[in-house]
Amino acid sequence: MIFETHAHYDDEAFDADREEILASMAAAGIGTIVNACASIDGLMDTIALMDKYPFVYGAVGVHPDDADRMTPETLDTVRRLSRHEKAAAIGEIGLDYYWHKTKEEQLIQQKMFRAQMDIAREEKLPFMIHSREAAEDTLNIVREYVKGGMYGGIIHCFSYGKEIAREYLSMGLYLGIGGVVTFKNARRLKEVVEYAPLDQLVLETDSPYLAPEPNRGKRNSSLNLPYVAAAIAELKHVTPEEVIAVTEKNAKKLLRL
Ligand code: NI
Repeated sequence: MIFETHAHYDDEAFDADREEILASMAAAGIGTIVNACASIDGLMDTIALMDKYPFVYGAVGVHPDDADRMTPETLDTVRRLSRHEKAAAIGEIGLDYYWHKTKEEQLIQQKMFRAQMDIAREEKLPFMIHSREAAEDTLNIVREYVKGGMYGGIIHCFSYGKEIAREYLSMGLYLGIGGVVTFKNARRLKEVVEYAPLDQLVLETDSPYLAPEPNRGKRNSSLNLPYVAAAIAELKHVTPEEVIAVTEKNAKKLLRL
C-alpha cells in the first residue's frame, strides 16, 4: 500500500473534514501516513493524530519558520515527544532562506537545526529535512552530522538539482518526491527522479500544499498520491505498482516500522 511520508493533517485546512478524509485512506490504498510537525503549536496536534489513528505516525520537530520562537523548553519538548512510541522521525527541521533572508534569522535557523539534529542522533531517530533556497548550508550541516553518525533521513520536497541530489544519495539518504514531479515545468525535479535509484525515493504530499496535476492549486491530500506514483513510474520506466511497493519498503526500512 502507499506510504505517505509527509503530510500536515493537523493543518486548519482539514478542520472541516479531517475525520472523514482520514477514514477514507485505507479504502483508497493509503496504508501509512507520517504527519510532520510544522510549528511549535503543531507539536501536540501531531501527537493527538498519532494517538487517535493506528496508521498515523509522527515526525516531531520544529520548522525553520519557527526557529526564532524556540527556547530551551521547546527543545526539551521535542526530545520528550520524540520518545513517543509512534514518533518515527525528527522533522520537519532545516533551513528556509526563501522566507528568511537576513543573516541574523539564518543563524538562528542553523542553531535550531543543529540542536534538533543532535536530538535525532541522541534519540536514534531519522531526520526529515526542509530546505528551501539554502542548498549549500543544508548540505554542509547534513554532511557534518552524517559523518559523525546518524540514523538516516529524508530530504523532504526535494527541490534542488542532480548535483545536490548526488551528494545526499551518496550519504544513503532518501529524497521525498511529491506533487511537483507532475508539473509540466518541473524539468529539474524530473531529471533528479530519473537519476536517483528508486531504492532511495519515498512518496509524500506535503498536504494541504502542492497538489499534483490534475488537481494543482486545490487542497492536497494523500488521496492524490497515485498521481505522484504514476509520474515517477513514467520517468523510471516501471509500473506504478512497483513504485508504490518499493517506496513503501524504503519508508518502512528507514523509519523502522
Ligand atoms: Ni511540510
